[in-house]
Amino acid sequence: MKRIGVLTSGGDSSGMNAAIRAVVRAGIDKGLEVYGFIQGYAGVLDKHYKVMESSSVSGIINRGGTILKSARCEEFKTDRGQEEGLDTLRDLGVDGLVVIGGDGSLRGANALHELGMPVVGIPATIDNDVYGTDMAIGVDTCLNTITWAIDTIKDTASSHERAFIIEVMGRESGYLAIMSSLSCGAEAAIVPEFPYDLEKIGEKLAERFKEGKTDSIIIVAEGASSAYTIQRRLKNHIGFETRITVLGHIQRGGVTSVFDRTLASRMGVEAVNALTDGKTGVMIGLSKNKYVEVPFADVMEKKKELDPKLFDLARALGVIL
Ligand code: ADP
Ligand code: F6P
Repeated sequence: MKRIGVLTSGGDSSGMNAAIRAVVRAGIDKGLEVYGFIQGYAGVLDKHYKVMESSSVSGIINRGGTILKSARCEEFKTDRGQEEGLDTLRDLGVDGLVVIGGDGSLRGANALHELGMPVVGIPATIDNDVYGTDMAIGVDTCLNTITWAIDTIKDTASSHERAFIIEVMGRESGYLAIMSSLSCGAEAAIVPEFPYDLEKIGEKLAERFKEGKTDSIIIVAEGASSAYTIQRRLKNHIGFETRITVLGHIQRGGVTSVFDRTLASRMGVEAVNALTDGKTGVMIGLSKNKYVEVPFADVMEKKKELDPKLFDLARALGVIL
């Protein structure tokens, strides 16, 4: 193996830069040339890449976003796009590829692997919905941002004795919502994985209001409902005046947390080691504090479930579900 490629794809997450840095530095350390493809699979199709030097990744370990840019590339979902991608990589003499991204991006990685290109994946998405890893890169930074934002909102919620309905990201996953309900001491959490009864939630919130609770935080995962819908349905029943905050893309950026820097650095190095050991079709995962190689077949076929114990924990700590 002489030359490897690296790309970031799909929704970005803080820590992608730390992962790129680790892949580049580990690759160079092993005597490889490293090409960084720009804008994910679009960069592969357009032969848009940079030759990465050790200095190309200086000063980025802390920075959110991705210096290689990220994109969603519809063409790459087609057989033709994938075959063209393979041809391009072969033309450029790329012997192996590291794909950093979420579930969709890893499907693209699997397609290239099935066509014969050695590919290793690294999970990076704030949604934490990739099977085979306890944590994806960016989740921890995102949760810290959500927690900071809600702590800030709680100050004004308390001054004005209001309930805030806060919408957090998670296209199909309630991980961010349930975890932030724990870290912020929220009154209620609404997630797609748990059947919720808004009338009951409303009654319980009203009870707490009568008991003297003067402010309230209700977290809703975008994959379950919208803050506007929840506000419309709750506002006349809970006693509190309500306001809405949709946290939006603030959740995707920001200075990378220590946990994510470490996770990304380790996964980047493990990915290069796997490629040079002749492995392909695997994702580097973190499972029970160990770094593991998870076959793409499992990542594609199995669904990552929210741990049901999180619901028990939330309830025990007073979160209404
Ligand atoms: P994420 O990786 O964050 O889940 P997406 O689902 O939007 O983001 O996927 C990012 C990109 O990965 C897509 O734009 C496409 O280029 C590629 N991709 C997604 N799904 C597939 C698939 N089934 N086959 C091939 N490529 C895919
Ligand atoms: O998959 C990551 C994610 O941030 C989801 O939580 C969210 O639904 C989506 O991406 C937003 O995508 P976009 O940046 O294209 O609006």
